[in-house]
Amino acid sequence: MASPSNTAAQKEVVSLRPADETIAEDAQALSLQLKAMRERLFAPASEKTLRSFTSGEAARLVGVSDGYLRQLSLAGDGPQPDVGTGGRRYYSLADIDALRHFLAEQALAKGNTAKARGYVKWRDPSKGEHMQVISITNFKGGSGKTTSAVHLAQYLAMTGHRVLAVDLDPQASLSALFGYQPELDLVGNDTIYGAIRYDSEVRPLKDIIRKTYFHNLDLLPGNLELQEFEHVTPRALADRRPGDPHGLFFTRIQTALQSVADDYDVVVIDCPPQLGYLTLSALCASTSVIVTVHPQMLDVASMSQFLFMTSDLLGVVREAGGTLNFDFLRYLVTRFEPHDGPQTQIVGFLRSLFGERVLTSPMLKSTAVSDAGLTKQTLYEVGRENFTRGTYDRAMEALDAVNAEIEQLIHTAWGR
Ligand SMILES: Nc1ncnc2c1ncn2[C@@H]1O[C@H](COP(=O)(O)OP(=O)(O)OP(=O)(O)O)[C@@H](O)[C@H]1O
Ligand SMILES: [Mg+2]
Repeated sequence: MASPSNTAAQKEVVSLRPADETIAEDAQALSLQLKAMRERLFAPASEKTLRSFTSGEAARLVGVSDGYLRQLSLAGDGPQPDVGTGGRRYYSLADIDALRHFLAEQALAKGNTAKARGYVKWRDPSKGEHMQVISITNFKGGSGKTTSAVHLAQYLAMTGHRVLAVDLDPQASLSALFGYQPELDLVGNDTIYGAIRYDSEVRPLKDIIRKTYFHNLDLLPGNLELQEFEHVTPRALADRRPGDPHGLFFTRIQTALQSVADDYDVVVIDCPPQLGYLTLSALCASTSVIVTVHPQMLDVASMSQFLFMTSDLLGVVREAGGTLNFDFLRYLVTRFEPHDGPQTQIVGFLRSLFGERVLTSPMLKSTAVSDAGLTKQTLYEVGRENFTRGTYDRAMEALDAVNAEIEQLIHTAWGR
């Protein structure tokens, strides 16, 4: 017969549910709530859509004056805006792009190629302008990689480039910002892993890419299956036959991206917060790299380890035949608070160490960015009317300055 204390212990064991069941139940509850939230936020189709832009915003994006856009609209020339209450004119992003093409054709008709190039910024392969692949990286979690990546990709699309955004993080935060809920929207083999896997289920990258609600911006969504690459790569390396170039993990993202190079000017890769095979393969596919740095001592301290480790690993890759020539490598200061003494000191310290490799413009910390994030939106997606104007304008000014600086680096790499 069991002693009284034994019975109590047995009862406890019986009442304890296996952890996997509890966790699975929590996952299910959370997933359902997120789905309901998405249905509320993105009604009626529970899909994200993009707002339209005021004529002032459109003029700024195209690079003409608002008055000139008004003239075009009065004369009935080119794509026409929707006219709202009070005669306000609104353009969709697709209209803005059509405007750009319209103005470029007019410039070309007058023989002004440079001006046409200023409107439609597509690269010209015949002039050796190669597809830019930009990895946003740092193994420090929360350093602003995803926020920087999504805003850069959207900025480049809005300013007339054809962009592919790649979510390389199994956490899929970038995909979430584009309205995806991976466990509901992806069925398997539909991340970039599908195109870089080593087995027979490998598929063409072209078939995995998805259009987004953002004109000229496509997405390779992410989810947990990306993690597979970390598990299977060591086996692929061990099984590799001498001379077989396909087994090498560091060529795989590059080869996949090259298969769609005709369709894009810039690829922006949001890297996971770890230095695994995925990140290394992304770095080897990259023509340029942005390392995000939150200016706090612990972040900067861990960054030195990140740099040592990256350098070591890339050295090994280079010896194995990988090519690693970046057009630019820049440090981007994120979530910066200019009135915070220690942060300002750290930024000064980084600038004195790395000189021009620290982007001139830092991204400011702003409630406009975090508030927009609450509804899974970016600063470019929310309208100015949703914020205190000063707050919105300061954040937008900092964001545009950062992205314009990167755009300039891209154009310089193209020799423009
Ligand atoms: N400029 C900013 N102002 C205010 N909040 C910001 C800003 N940039 C990022 N954040 C917030 O900081 C958090 C971390 O940012 P983010 O997700 O971009 O970092 P990450 O490096 O991608 O993280 P992880 O390593 O987990 O992938 C997010 O909640 C984001 O909304
Ligand atoms: Mg991230």
